[in-house]
This record gives sequence, C-alpha cells and structure tokens, in this order.
Amino acid sequence: MMEDTSEAIHPDKADAPVIQEVWNTFGQLRDWREYDGAYLCHGQKAGAALVFFSPTEFRFKVFGEGVIDLTTTIAVLPPKEIFKPEIEDNEQQLNFLTGELTVSIDKQTFALTVTNKEGIEVARQETLSWSPRGATNALFNMQEDSHFYGLGEKSSFLDKRGERYTMWNTDVYAPHMPEIEALYESIPLLIHMHSGINYGVFLDNPGRSEFDMRSHGVAYTIGCMTGAYDIYFIYGPELKDVVSRYTALTGRITLPPKWSLGYHQSRYSYMNQTEVMELARNFRDKQIPCDVIYLDIHYMDEYRVFTFDKIRFPDPKGMIAELREMGIRIVPIVDPGVKKDPKYKIYREGVQEEHFCRRLEGDIYFGDVWPGTSAFPDFTETRTAKWWGDQHEFYTSLGIDGIWNDMNEPAVFNTLKTMDPDVMHLNDGDPVTHEEIHNLYGMLMSRATYEGMKSHMNGRRPFVLTRAGYSGIQRYAAIWTGDNRSFWEHMAMAIPMVLNMGLSGLPFAGPDIGGFAYHTSAQLLVRWTQMGVFFPYCRNHSALGTTRQEPWSFGEEVEKIVREYISLRYRWMPHLYNLFYESSQTGMPIMRPLLLEYPNDPKVTNLCDQFLFGPDVIIAPVYRPDTDYRAVYLPEGVWHDYWTGEKHEGGRTILADAPLDVLPIYVRAGAIVAEGALHQYSDDHESDDVVTFHVYGAEAKPDFRAEYTLYEDDGETFAYESGKTSKLYIRAQGQEDALRLTIHYIEDAYVAKRQHLRFTLRQPGFAPSGIEQLERISLDELAEGGIGWSLDESSGDILIQIEDRKLDELVLKV
Ligand code: GLC
Repeated sequence: MMEDTSEAIHPDKADAPVIQEVWNTFGQLRDWREYDGAYLCHGQKAGAALVFFSPTEFRFKVFGEGVIDLTTTIAVLPPKEIFKPEIEDNEQQLNFLTGELTVSIDKQTFALTVTNKEGIEVARQETLSWSPRGATNALFNMQEDSHFYGLGEKSSFLDKRGERYTMWNTDVYAPHMPEIEALYESIPLLIHMHSGINYGVFLDNPGRSEFDMRSHGVAYTIGCMTGAYDIYFIYGPELKDVVSRYTALTGRITLPPKWSLGYHQSRYSYMNQTEVMELARNFRDKQIPCDVIYLDIHYMDEYRVFTFDKIRFPDPKGMIAELREMGIRIVPIVDPGVKKDPKYKIYREGVQEEHFCRRLEGDIYFGDVWPGTSAFPDFTETRTAKWWGDQHEFYTSLGIDGIWNDMNEPAVFNTLKTMDPDVMHLNDGDPVTHEEIHNLYGMLMSRATYEGMKSHMNGRRPFVLTRAGYSGIQRYAAIWTGDNRSFWEHMAMAIPMVLNMGLSGLPFAGPDIGGFAYHTSAQLLVRWTQMGVFFPYCRNHSALGTTRQEPWSFGEEVEKIVREYISLRYRWMPHLYNLFYESSQTGMPIMRPLLLEYPNDPKVTNLCDQFLFGPDVIIAPVYRPDTDYRAVYLPEGVWHDYWTGEKHEGGRTILADAPLDVLPIYVRAGAIVAEGALHQYSDDHESDDVVTFHVYGAEAKPDFRAEYTLYEDDGETFAYESGKTSKLYIRAQGQEDALRLTIHYIEDAYVAKRQHLRFTLRQPGFAPSGIEQLERISLDELAEGGIGWSLDESSGDILIQIEDRKLDELVLKV
C-alpha cells in the first residue's frame, strides 16, 4: 500500500549523511552580576544563576538567552534565608567563599569546583552541555573510593556505583529486576560519598532525567531531557548532614496518625462487605493486631472513583462504623482515571468545569485504565486540585480517614504506559506539556488528596498512601513500593530500596509484605512478616488469583509466628512513634543503613541485608528458604541479643541462630528503647498504657551514660502543633558503684493514660544492693502492678516499676 502514496518517498527512507548533533557549552565566563540574591554568571552562549542558602548549600540553574526564571517546582520549600558568600574575582576563577566551601567557576571552561575548608575537592562539574533539542548533560568527577546513595525507589543494592537510573515515574508490573532503571517514584537526589565526605546533588526537574554512575569511567553524569538544569548542591560532610539539609529543602514528613503505623491488611480485592467483616473478625478472634483493611478497586461501581458498588457493599457507612468499633479503619483505593460516562457525576462535572487534561487543540485526553476509557484531572491547576480534594467528602462522611492513591504515575494501558507527552497541563496560567512535568503528576494528586481529606476531617490527621511521587511527596503521603512479587529475591531487594528511599527523604515507606504478584509460601510469609514489622510502612497485600496470604493462611504454626511478630510491632509502638517524630523534626530515616550511624566503617558501605531500626537496633532478617542461621555484622560496640540478652563484642561478623520463629535482633549496649503494652490496634486504650524503658548493658561506672526522650501526643489530631505534647527524658548515668536514673518531663502538656513507668535494665554489668526510695518486691508482684524493684535471677535483668510523674530520680547502689 505504502508504495502507492508519496509515503514511498518519505525523507526518513533516504540514506541521509550522518549529521553530528552539536552540543553547546557555556563557553568562557564573560561577566557576572548580583541580582536579587542570585549571582548571574554569563558565559558566551548561556549563563548560570547561583543562589546560596547557607555556607553549605547552593543552587545552580542554567539560563539561556532572555528571562532568568528562579521559580522552583513544588518540591522545594521557600528558602528561609539567602546567604551572601564573599566573592573573589581573579584572572582564572570566580570564587564564592562561604567559610565552609569555596565554589569556583573556571573562567575559561566554566567548570564548577567545590572545595571544602580542609582543601579536599568535594565535587567538580567538569562540563555541562546541551543539545539543540533541549537535553542537558553534566559530567562530574568520581573518585577511586566513590560510593553513591539516594535516588529514591530503585532496584539493586544500596551502593549505586556502577548503576544507571532514569527518573520517569513508571508502572512496572514486570518483575522488579536490578536492570530496571525507572520505577514508580522519582527522587532525583544523588548522594556521593568519597574521601570520608558526602554531598548531594538534587536535580529539580520533573521531566525525564538520568543518573549514570556506570558509563563514564572516572566520571558520572546527570542529564535531563527537557526543562532547565536546576541543581541544588548540598554539602555534608556527614551523610546525616546531607539527609537533614535535603529534607529541610524539600520538607519532612507530617506526623501521621498513629493508627497508620499499625499493621495493614490488603488484597486485590476483598470483594464484598461480608468478606471484609469476616476478615476483621478473624483478626480480633485470633488476637492478631490490625489497624487497617484496604478496599481495592472492586469496592467501586465499575471502577468509578468516589462510588461504592451497591451490591457488593450495600451499607458502607454501617460497615465502617462497625469496624471502627472493633478498632479497624478502612482505606479505599482512589485512582486518577475518571470513567468516561456522561451519566457519572464526577465525569460530567469534570468535563463541564474543565478539570481534565487536554491536548493543545482542546480535546480531552483519554486513556484506558481499570474503568475503561478515562479522563485524567489536571492537578497542576489549583482549582482542579481543590475540586478533586473536595470530592473526598464522599469518603470522610462515611467515616474514612485514609486514602490509597494508585496508578498515579499516571499509568495508562498503552505502549508508553502513561499519558502522551504532548498532553497539556494548564499549570495555573503557565502551560506545560506532560513530558515536562510527568514526575509531578502523582505528587500533585496526593497533595490534592491530603489537603482535601484534611479539610473534611475536623482536625484529625489524614493518611494518604501513594505509588507515584516526586521529591517532597513525604509531606503528603506514605509510599509503598508497587507491584513486587512473592520472590525471596524481592524480599531481600526491599531492604536496599527502602533504605535509599529513607536517605532520599522518604522515611514512611515499605513493600507489599508477602509479595504482591505470584504465590507466596508459608516460609516466605513468615520471614517477610518478621522483617516487614520493622519497616516504617507495614502492609500485607497480594494480587488477584494468587495464593492467599492473610496471617492464618498457612496453618497454626505460621499463624502463631506471624501473630508474635505483628504483636512485637505493637509493643514497640512507643519507640516507632518516637522515630516518626524524630523524622518529622530532623529528616532522619526510621529504617537506616548501618552506614548512616557508622560512616567510618568500611564494611558497611554496601551492607544491605540487615538494617537499623532507629539508631541502635539491628534487624537481620533471614531472606532465603530453609535457612535457620545467618551471618550478622555487628559494628563497633557491644551488642545484646534482643531475645536472649547474650552480649556480643562488635566489630565482627557473628553467626546467628535463626530457626523459623526467630528474627535476629541486636541492641547496642548503652541504648534505651521504649516498649508499650500490647494492643490489638493502636488507639486501643482499654489496656494500661504502661511504658517500659529497656536500658541495655548499664554499668555502675562513670563512663556509662544512656539517654532517651519519649515523645507523645494524642496520635490523632493536630493538637501537637499547638503544643499538646509530652517529652519524657530518661537518663541512666553510671557513677562510682552506682547508677543514677533521671526521669524528667521536659514537656507535659499531653498526659498519656497510664499509671506506671517501668524500667528493665537488661544485662547490667552489676547487681544492685538496693534502690533508694524503692522496696524490693517479687517478679510476680511487679508484673501485677506493684511498685518497687526486682531482680530476675535467671537473666540478671533488673526490673523497676514506679508511678508515672511521681519520682524524678532513682539511685541504684552496687
Ligand atoms: C496496581 C497496584 C496494586 C493494586 C492493583 C489493583 O497494580 O499496584 O497494588 O492491587 O493495581 O488496583
């Protein structure tokens, strides 16, 4: 046929001579000037604006001819201040001196060099070039001892040296293999560690970008296909400094409702009201703690968002109320695709009020997703985001406090897997193509959801879970890592993936426990649950047609172990909530690579088959079948086996015994960890909310000191923002032949419902002869609520129970 038309002589058919695409560079630095807190450096062909925010952070944005645009995406929070460096202009270089760093632009080559005050070359952006079609590529130096971290949700190991990744939010149902370069989230933050120092480069560009630490030998590259090359350089020198500064720049988590830290149960799908109620009753009858049940797409009327199927769910309000009585919340899924159906209110309103994405020519963009042909809201428009947010009153009025955003890359069932790149977003009067802001779509949806929910929840905290996101998403939503499989390999890969997410500002994350696609097994469910209860986000979810993986699906032995570990998460709830609070203040992840706490230990640069839960607790999951032991690396210090109390000298690898019911856990001597009573759901206040502070390896010697601050609030509302919080400071200070315990409320505007405080001194290095002001009582008396202290002869542990808010000091004498 083609031969019959002019297409036969299509220009692409000609053997065109190879035309070398010429990439431009800045050329020489011609001049510079200060403009509104920015330093505009003009090269021969383009320029760059430098803005300093502190002695350790600056922005470098390329501009072509014409307007200098210093706006940012919504990832970046408005800077608190602008810092003025000293300037040194000599023949070869233009130098910005901050006191911490010297940032130099070479006048001949425009190379950008960052040197610290010790004279170490921190980073060197050797060349920066751009193609006539608008792609930009920057080449940075790499060292012999370079290691790379961050980059958000990526497969493969912790250290990203030798890898290459693309930032382009993608729905990947195919198995998540190490070679997959793009998944659902795009966090264009690369952390480079070398010579004992760390820095981060955050590329604030929501189009397609690429980070290549593989192809250029002693260099790595950062490139973007569209839009401006706009980077934030964040110096450490410590890794913790980079994480803290990056999260100050893009925001930290908003304290989530405490119930969202509990155990979540999901399945694609719990098909009807009867099934959901049975599921909930099973949890309660079997005494397996659970806070949330998810409703996947089948709850809707033919996948129309903001509806319930009237046959499957005849009385959602009644069901939700009954579940609330049982302490269980419902989180329904909400996808962005709105079914094309003129009889459907949301679609009708969306069309009539012009909320859907359109092409430049004016026609609505339609793509196929679960509901069939669907339109997609243009969340870049404030009025549309508000419209969408307000629709959530449908859910809040039914008693729903949490929403699950899925398919928001946006995923579309076509070869591109998403919306056409030329679809337009009106962007509040500054139209852009989808290609330019693709990676923002999911975050904009979750922001609209969060804000909409919040405005209809009478001061309660909403919970939003999302699949897609961009830098800053942590302010609005928790993240699950999408469609993994019930493979042991995927269980193992979840560790480095979530660890790097934590270093990239996304602490509230986790995988589908048990695996989503394919079929789980009894052992995999046990091992994955043991590990998963120490992940910040803890949900068991599985796909249509796969082996069931609710905790009781594999008989009594499995059920017993799974119950025990889910219960362990609930007992650790005070500590977990504390870690969330810390993260909301400092940006530190909840689940941490050992590298974060032991940066000088060369053994941990790529250690990612074990992790830290907070700063002091090592979790070492078994991630292979039929295995009842594993090697565990213990860094410097002394470590206590959580289960047996046994002490291990650190700085070496030990072989841990790990039969199916044992997850190896080690706690650092000198650490304090708070545990609470076992609840069946997080805001169950029936049982006494006693808190037990476990003090590890206490010594009656002056060089022993352990500290802990327990943060508490109501866990449910925003009252904490106006100071309704409490902070209980605990210190165990060794003295000559004594140990002094200090118990002090630094803040106490929130009063927790409890009578007692308990202290368990685990494996102390001394036996007390007595405690001033306290009587020695038996272990049984103590367990029954008696005030006093006791010694567990078998373990050597010292147990103390006092009334809350009554004593502020205890002295244990040898
Ligand atoms: C997507 C989600 C998955 C969900 C399914 C049906 O695959 O990633 O979690 O169960 O869609 O909604």
